Amino acid sequence: MGLKVEPILPKFGAECSGIDITKPLTEEERREVVEAQNKWGVCVYRNTGLTDETHIEFSRNFGHIEFSPARKGGKSRLKHRELFDASNLNADGEITKDPAAIQYRKGDRLWHTDSAFVPLRSSHSLLLAHEVPSEAGETWFADTRSAYEDLPQDMKDRLEGLVGRNSVWWSRKLGGADIPDEQIEQGMVGEHPLVHTHAGSGRKALFIAAHTMDIIGMERDEAQKLIWTLIEHTTQPQYVFSVKYNVGDLVIWDNLCTMHRGGEFDFENERRDMRRTTIREGTEPYSVLDDDQFGRLFSSVPKSVDIAGANEREKAS
Ligand SMILES: [Fe+2]
Repeated sequence: MGLKVEPILPKFGAECSGIDITKPLTEEERREVVEAQNKWGVCVYRNTGLTDETHIEFSRNFGHIEFSPARKGGKSRLKHRELFDASNLNADGEITKDPAAIQYRKGDRLWHTDSAFVPLRSSHSLLLAHEVPSEAGETWFADTRSAYEDLPQDMKDRLEGLVGRNSVWWSRKLGGADIPDEQIEQGMVGEHPLVHTHAGSGRKALFIAAHTMDIIGMERDEAQKLIWTLIEHTTQPQYVFSVKYNVGDLVIWDNLCTMHRGGEFDFENERRDMRRTTIREGTEPYSVLDDDQFGRLFSSVPKSVDIAGANEREKAS
């Protein structure tokens, strides 16, 4: 039995079933999974039975897995560095009360693409639900290919050749964090074209996010106006759907042809344990030790969103 694919929107998002992704895939299964992903942008696999280990192994079908940054003090809730912790839990597995951690996560409620703020982009994010809140906690997705295709020609012409400057601290500031501009400027910036051809499908896509702070050669006010005009265009109802999770559900999105944002939930009272693997764009082998871009990014963190340092404070108090 091969992969079954049920579209969510006519050209975007699909519920996938029919193969056991906890086991190594056959070449035919791997091809079907990758093709579905390239076509639909977001694929949802329900009730997978994946563990941390099989989640990581399945992720390798999409390419090279990024390592999450090592925590200051060495303590991390998850033992595999291939897993990014997208939960609201601290290193001891309790709901965090840390204002910095809560503030940091607020930026995730804005439309974004994962890792736009580092030089080497991430293609796929594979998010597995381990614990979910009793209500809400969904993720919203937007189709940046169809949104690009539907732009008027004069806007397409205007965007040609423009390059965005992306910063994670910029989106944290938009989410309400108090971060001085100098610290944002000193932090890592990812520069990426606003329009690119999505390699998996050959379709053109917007590459924009709340992380996009500037456009090279443009005043910030003008750039922000353009970015948010594009984000508003891309998040119109015809391009958008949400996924509500049950435990065991895996959602895979391709950051190079989608945007997403987290929905609201009772962050301070309900547990939400989500774990993510992230695939680096391209197929060239790389050494994490030689090129730990997330380690470098988080080696210097503004105080108001210093989760790692804050975890240490939480333990000490
Ligand atoms: Fe995200």
